[in-house]
Amino acid sequence: MTQLDTRSVHAGRDDLTALGVHVPPIDLSTTYPLPGVAAGGTSYDALSRGNGPDGGSLVYQRLWNPTVARFEDALADLEHTEGAVAFGSGMAALTACLLATVAAGRPHVVAVRPLYGGSDHLLSTGLLGTTVSYTSATSIAGEIRPETGLVIVETPANPTVDLVDLAAVKRQAGDVPVLVDNTFATPVLQQPARHGASLVLHSATKYLGGHGDVMGGVVAAGAEWIARLRQIRAVTGGLLHPLAAYELHRGLQTLPVRVRAQQATAAKVADWLSAQPAVSEVFYPGLSDPLELIGRQQAGPGAILAFRVAGGYGAAARVAGGVNLITHAVSLGGVDTLIQHPAALTHRLVAVEAKPSDGLLRLSLGLEDPEDLTADLAQALAQA
Ligand SMILES: Cc1ncc(COP(=O)(O)O)c(C=O)c1O
Repeated sequence: MTQLDTRSVHAGRDDLTALGVHVPPIDLSTTYPLPGVAAGGTSYDALSRGNGPDGGSLVYQRLWNPTVARFEDALADLEHTEGAVAFGSGMAALTACLLATVAAGRPHVVAVRPLYGGSDHLLSTGLLGTTVSYTSATSIAGEIRPETGLVIVETPANPTVDLVDLAAVKRQAGDVPVLVDNTFATPVLQQPARHGASLVLHSATKYLGGHGDVMGGVVAAGAEWIARLRQIRAVTGGLLHPLAAYELHRGLQTLPVRVRAQQATAAKVADWLSAQPAVSEVFYPGLSDPLELIGRQQAGPGAILAFRVAGGYGAAARVAGGVNLITHAVSLGGVDTLIQHPAALTHRLVAVEAKPSDGLLRLSLGLEDPEDLTADLAQALAQA
């Protein structure tokens, strides 16, 4: 098998030369000509059950789209899974996984905090018919019940970039499928399916797109899950648009170089922040990796860090509001550096007992020169 960098460039493009083109064609059809009523119906049956095209008609974009399928194939290739299913956002992807769990009659979810605030909120509200037990990564086994249908973890976790030992999670989960949100690590640094995950979820809005101009979500998994999730997508319509799929597929080509360059900057900025008197704590796996997962599970510490400003909420708010080169905005994983206050924004809807600290800021490092970033942070910290 070729190396990840090579596959990032070429995955989902095997047929292009035969098609006589150099970049993937974009298919925007919402509907497709039918070969006949009976044959069209047979295709409809196959696609609505979550199977791939049967050689007849693609019928309707909500059932299948070739441009979306290219991105899915490429992502599955990078994640080492049998397939992938793409959605209109990361939350739509998580919704499909939870609906599948409820439909299977096992609506109880064991979730390891911290999680992205939106995921935490969706589970806490039980809006989709799930119930949740929050626990630590080492206490999963004790929370598993007969009706548990899913174990959910993020690693690195949003916002404090805690790392979770996936092999240990798998051992505790037993037969219960494990969903790993791999948004922060990307397949460049970590492929959770190799460590026992049944479902690997991404907010594709982040690193996969990489430029802050496309929203999407994707779940990489084995064939059985893929069929189930496609079926749910066909029924609920949480689709990824083909133009977004094209952008995400293109984004994969530069993913390894972006992630590694941004990671190198994060390491420098983490070191610099650690020496600042206005900063009381820096959270970055490159500084502290108590389970020694870097090198074993994750190829590098990643390009997100969090830090606590001495002086609590007021000081943190002044730093977030005081940056110039860095953008004060939610989201992450793009080529430009973003800073935000998790307790007030991305994790605003998280229950009090699990809320990030008031002095915490999350920083997503981009491709700028690290010294320009530290200069901007220095003047912002001076306002703290
Ligand atoms: C780790 C993680 N998972 C999932 C999501 C949700 O993704 P989206 O915003 O694409 O719906 C986010 C969004 O910030 C995230 O950070």
